[in-house]
Amino acid sequence: MRGAGDDSAVEGKAILEKYCARCHAIGAADESPLEKAPPLRKIYLTYPIEQLEGGFAEGMGSRHRDMPQIQFSTEQVDAILTYLGGITGVDPATRPRTEVPDETPP
Ligand code: HEC
Repeated sequence: MRGAGDDSAVEGKAILEKYCARCHAIGAADESPLEKAPPLRKIYLTYPIEQLEGGFAEGMGSRHRDMPQIQFSTEQVDAILTYLGGITGVDPATRPRTEVPDETPP
């Protein structure tokens, strides 16, 4: 089981601290330094997980000018999601995904 204490979560937190924390709250109960920026735990719980995966990997900045354009590797995205899963108590693996069209069943 992955949790807030493992290496991946530690790396995820470090990434968020470095790139996101000046605007977004990245902890379990803190307020965002920038009022307009929702705490990342809320974003994590609100957006479909594949949108987060896709968005982080492609660089979230494309959506609005305030945010820096940063592209993360799959491992970094995974670390971020593991960390956010740890602080919210909602494992990324259990987050609902939007329906993927069925492969033709046997
Ligand atoms: C310079 C300030 C700033 C930084 C740095 C920043 N954000 Fe944001 N972010 C915002 C603001 C402001 C919003 C809300 C924008 C809106 O509602 O239009 C936002 C919204 C978001 C959203 C919601 C989706 C969206 O596009 O509206 C996500 C996801 C997000 N940020 C992720 C991140 C991540 C991940 C990082 C670090 C890699 C980060 N942000 C760094 C300011 C920032």
